[in-house]
Order: sequence, then C-alpha cells, then structure tokens
Amino acid sequence: MSYTKPKAIPLTVAVLSLLLVSAVSVSFVNGTSVVDGVVSEPIYGVVSSGSKRFLGENNATGNSSLVLAAERTHRRDPLEDRSYYTGGWNISNEHYWASVAYTGAPLFIIALFWFVACAICLLLVCICCCCCRRGRYGYSRTAYALSLTFLTAFTIAAIIGSVFLYTGQGKFHDGTKHTLDYVVQQARSTVDGLRNVSNTLAVAKHTGVSQIFIPQNVQNNIDKVDAKINSAAETLENETEKNKKDIMIILDFVRRILIIVAAVMLGLAALGFLFSILGLQVLVYILVIIGWILVAVTFILCGLFLVLHNATGDTCVAMDDWVKHPSAHTALDDIIPCVDPATAQDTLSQSKEVTYQLVGVSNRIITNISNINPPSGVGYNQSGPLVPNLCNPFNSDKTDRKCASGEVELSNATQVWKNYVCQVSASNVCSTVGRLTPAMYDQMTAVVNVSNGLYHSGPFLKELLDCTFLRDTFTVIHDEHCPDLSRYSKWIYIGLALVSAAVMLSLICWVLYARERRHRKYTKLVDATYGQESNAGKSHG
Ligand SMILES: *[C@@H]1O[C@H](CO)[C@@H](O)[C@H](O)[C@H]1NC(C)=O
Ligand SMILES: *[C@@H]1O[C@H](CO)[C@@H](O)[C@H](O)[C@H]1NC(C)=O
Ligand SMILES: *[C@@H]1O[C@H](CO)[C@@H](O)[C@H](O)[C@H]1NC(C)=O
Ligand SMILES: *[C@@H]1O[C@H](CO)[C@@H](O)[C@H](O)[C@H]1NC(C)=O
Ligand SMILES: *[C@@H]1O[C@H](CO)[C@@H](O)[C@H](O)[C@H]1NC(C)=O
Ligand SMILES: *[C@@H]1O[C@H](CO)[C@@H](O)[C@H](O)[C@H]1NC(C)=O
Ligand SMILES: *[C@@H]1O[C@H](CO)[C@@H](O)[C@H](O)[C@H]1NC(C)=O
Repeated sequence: MSYTKPKAIPLTVAVLSLLLVSAVSVSFVNGTSVVDGVVSEPIYGVVSSGSKRFLGENNATGNSSLVLAAERTHRRDPLEDRSYYTGGWNISNEHYWASVAYTGAPLFIIALFWFVACAICLLLVCICCCCCRRGRYGYSRTAYALSLTFLTAFTIAAIIGSVFLYTGQGKFHDGTKHTLDYVVQQARSTVDGLRNVSNTLAVAKHTGVSQIFIPQNVQNNIDKVDAKINSAAETLENETEKNKKDIMIILDFVRRILIIVAAVMLGLAALGFLFSILGLQVLVYILVIIGWILVAVTFILCGLFLVLHNATGDTCVAMDDWVKHPSAHTALDDIIPCVDPATAQDTLSQSKEVTYQLVGVSNRIITNISNINPPSGVGYNQSGPLVPNLCNPFNSDKTDRKCASGEVELSNATQVWKNYVCQVSASNVCSTVGRLTPAMYDQMTAVVNVSNGLYHSGPFLKELLDCTFLRDTFTVIHDEHCPDLSRYSKWIYIGLALVSAAVMLSLICWVLYARERRHRKYTKLVDATYGQESNAGKSHG
C-alpha cells in the first residue's frame, strides 16, 4: 500500500495543495526569523521572542486533538480484524488507506467471482463439447423470445452506460483540471507576493542602505531574510510546476483509459448483439472470451473509482473540518506546519516594529541633520525650505497612527523629497539650494522602500504564517470544487458499474440466445422434415 504517495487524482490535487503550501510554511517556520532577525538587533533593543510553536505543542489555545472527517471515515478496517477504524482522515496512517480501499471490496469480489465462475463455465462447456453427445434439442418459444428481449435490453443498457461513462469522464477531467488550476493560481500568487517582498529588500540592499545610517548587522539580517524568502518562492514555484505537470500526465492517462474502456465496451456490446442475432457462433464465443476478461477488469476499475470517490470525499470533509477548527491538533498539521496565531501575530508586530524604527531613522536624519542650519563651515551647506518628516504609520506601541499635517506618506515620500535635493560639488557639499545630497536621498529612499515594503507585506506574511491563506484556499476548494469532484467521480464509478454489469449480462444473453436460436433453427428443420414426411405419408395414404 503506497500510502505515502497517493496516486488518486483529486486526492492528489488536494494533497498537492497541502504540500505546496507546506513548502512555503516550512520555509517560513524558519522564516519567523524573517523579521525576527531584523528586529532583534541591539540597536533597536527589541527582544525577539523567537517562539516558533506549532499548533501541536501549543497548550495555551486549546490542545484538544481533532479527528478529521470522523463520521465519514468510520469504516471497517481489514487490517484490524474488520473492527471499525476511528483515526479519521490521516494519510500517514495505513489503517486509513486500508479502510478506504476496503470500500471497493464488494466490486473487487464481484470481479473475482465473475472471473472464476466464468472460467469454470467455459471449462464445463469445453468438456461438454468434447465429450458429450448432445441429445435432441428442446425448443421453447418463450425462452427464445425472452432471451432476445433481455439481449436487446442489456445491449441498450450497455450503450447507455458507455455514454454515461464517457460524459462522466469528460466532466471529471474538467473538474479536476479547474481545481488544479485554482491551486496552481493560488501558489503563483503566493510566489508573486514573496517575490515582491524579496525585491523590496534586494533593491534596498543595492542602494547602499548600509553606508551610513543602517548598521551592518541589520543589513546582514535583511540579506538573510531576503535569501530565505527567495528560496521559499523558488521552491514553491518549482514544486508547483513539477506537480502540475505530473498531475496533468496522470489526469490525461486516466482520461484516455476511461475513453478506451467506454469505447471498447460499447463496441463489444454492439458486436456481440450483432453476431448473436446473425448467429455467427464462433465470433460470439471469441467475444465471450474477450468480454469475460474485460468485464472483470472493468469491475476492478469501478472498485478503484469508488475508492477514489470516497477518498476525495474524505479529503474534502477533512479540509472543511480543519478550516473550522483552527486551534485543534489534527492529522493535517503533521503535513502543514502552521505557526500558531500568537506567533504569527508576533511576526506581524515585529514587522511593524521594523517599519516604525526605520521611519524613526529617516526622521532623525531629517530633524537632526538636514533641517538644522549649522554655522557656515559646519555641515554640508544645506539651505532652503525644511524637508518634511516621514509619516510613521505606527505609534510606539504599534497601534495605527494618523499622519500629522506636514508629514509625507511612505507611498510618495520618494517623490516629495526629490524637490529638496541639492547639487553637490566634488567635496560633497551643496552648491545649490537644497537640504539633501543625492547620496542622502538615495539612502533615505532605500529606507522608505524597505519600510513601505514591510508595511504592505506584513499582513501578507502573517497570513502565510498562520495559514489564513491556506484556510481560505481550502474553503474555496471545499465550497466550489469538491461538489464537482465528488459528483463526477461518482458518475464514473456508476458508469463503470452500469457498463460492466450490462456487458456481463448481455454476454450471458449472447450465449443463451445463440443456443435458443440454434435450437429454434434445428426444431424448425425437424418440424419441416417431419411435416414433409407426414405430408408424403398423407398423400400416400
Ligand atoms: C490542555 O492541556 C492542559 C494540560 O496539558 C490541560 O490542563 C487543559 O485542560 C487542556 N485544554 C484543553 C482544551 O484540552
Ligand atoms: C506585487 O507587487 C505588484 C506591484 O508592485 C502588485 O501589483 C501586486 O499586487 C503585488 N502582489 C502581491 C501578492 O502583493
Ligand atoms: C496519523 O497516523 C500516524 C501513523 O499511524 C500517527 O503517528 C499519527 O499520530 C496520526 N495522526 C493523528 C492526528 O491521529
Ligand atoms: C537628534 O536630536 C535629539 C535632540 O537633540 C537627540 O536626542 C537625538 O539623540 C539626536 N539623534 C541623532 C540620531 O543624532
Ligand atoms: C502624496 O500623497 C498625498 C496624499 O495622498 C497627496 O496629497 C500629495 O499630493 C502627494 N504628493 C506627491 C508628490 O505625489
Ligand atoms: C552653499 O549654497 C549656496 C546656495 O544655497 C550657494 O550659493 C553657495 O555657493 C554654496 N557654498 C558652497 C561653498 O558651495
Ligand atoms: C524605491 O522603489 C521604487 C519603486 O517602488 C523604485 O523605483 C526606486 O528605485 C526605489 N529606490 C530605492 C533607492 O531603492
């Protein structure tokens, strides 16, 4: 049982989404230090808590363990002497997979039974053919009519089943593809978000934030964080592309198999009907042999799709349960390492802290250096209107702050400050009116860029960390994609069951009808001969 790498398609889609996001989360669990590192510098005097608690270890906010999809997964477990399995949805538990696979058991048993029974029948027929001389045929008009009726009915059923199966596989393929596209799109938007943050930090780095105002160790931390975010984005992107490609290959393969099954069964039913009506006995027997094996295969396929259908349903319910019980420990948490909400909040407040501190740095430069009028010879010959302060979006306690009048916002400080830049002489002294040298301006805009980037990406990072983003994704999958996946996988196994049962019964009818037809012909022949004889007798008498 390959329960570590499920091949089932919609399940894989679901699991893929888990894995994709877990790739991000894993990078981010370390990435709690994203802002940690930046902030825990002595210069800012912020003590980093560094608490990276997982849900499972978190005793504060509810430590109850939740069984996912408990009701749905309450099934008999063949590995445990057919007692009921109670572990819930847990893809790392072989008992879960055994109990799901067990739901297909009736169909596997039918396939086996059919295969063996048919083999025995064929054997008996062969023995009878070879050894026994057949007695005189008995012909019954009713049996003949009945076998013809059933033959027609089952052939029609087989055709309906094939059409149903064909339609179902098309819709299933589309539904799965839509789900996959949604998951991939979510992954891509995460990658974009991460790249945004990373670019912000990289730009800041290249413009020499370190030179004067930002200490080297802070800059190193920004670098580290940047590298981490970049690698998270890279991993996520590669995994997405690779998994998407793999899943598409599997999906197309399944689609092809189902189309072939539908076509072959349709052809089999039609040919069998034709041959038995025409009384082509040898061809009918060849078809019976082919049909014998195909019916068994189709029943097994049907069982597999039933298992798939159940596993998909379980996964959907499990996702919903997980979304609805954010603080409980579940089997999903073993796959997705979400940081607990408190830690995520911590991260957010640390990113706020960095923003607050960086804005503070800019403003100190403005008030203590640019905006003072030193005696001539001191300073860099700054003159002209005062540079407006940068608006700090946070108070010192990290609550939101309204800008005071005369302050510029983070979003357009770069443009506003451009008007205060002077031209410098070779010795880096202003030769025209202005209060910022170009070098200062560059560094200050770099600071603004980083602050602005962090300010806007803080909530995004927090959502990734505490799995809000993932919960939203799961909610959409559960609400919008699961019903289709469930419905169409059901269509497929019903279609397969219909086709295999109809072909199985029509296969029996071919034989019966061919026999009745032969008997009828024979009886007619005998009757005709008898009639002629009696006529001849009459004319003689
Ligand atoms: C969590 O665990 C602690 C002890 O480990 C226990 O006192 C508390 O009742 C538990 N809370 C819940 C919601 O189960
Ligand atoms: C990334 O940045 C671009 C432009 O700067 C913006 O339009 C987009 O919404 C950002 N994406 C995310 C996920 O933040
Ligand atoms: C899932 O199954 C594994 C393997 O049996 C087990 O170690 C783990 O505790 C289970 N998880 C939950 C949440 O029951
Ligand atoms: C700016 O000036 C204030 C008041 O003079 C002083 O307390 C502060 O330390 C100065 N900051 C810097 C960075 O020089
Ligand atoms: C900056 O933004 C403020 C408010 O959004 C606006 O009033 C001001 O004109 C902007 N300045 C520039 C230079 O864009
Ligand atoms: C200082 O700036 C003024 C303009 O504000 C300019 O006229 C003067 O030449 C500058 N002095 C030096 C030494 O560059
Ligand atoms: C700041 O960011 C803007 C765009 O967001 C960019 O055009 C500019 O070059 C950046 N400046 C610095 C100094 O990083």
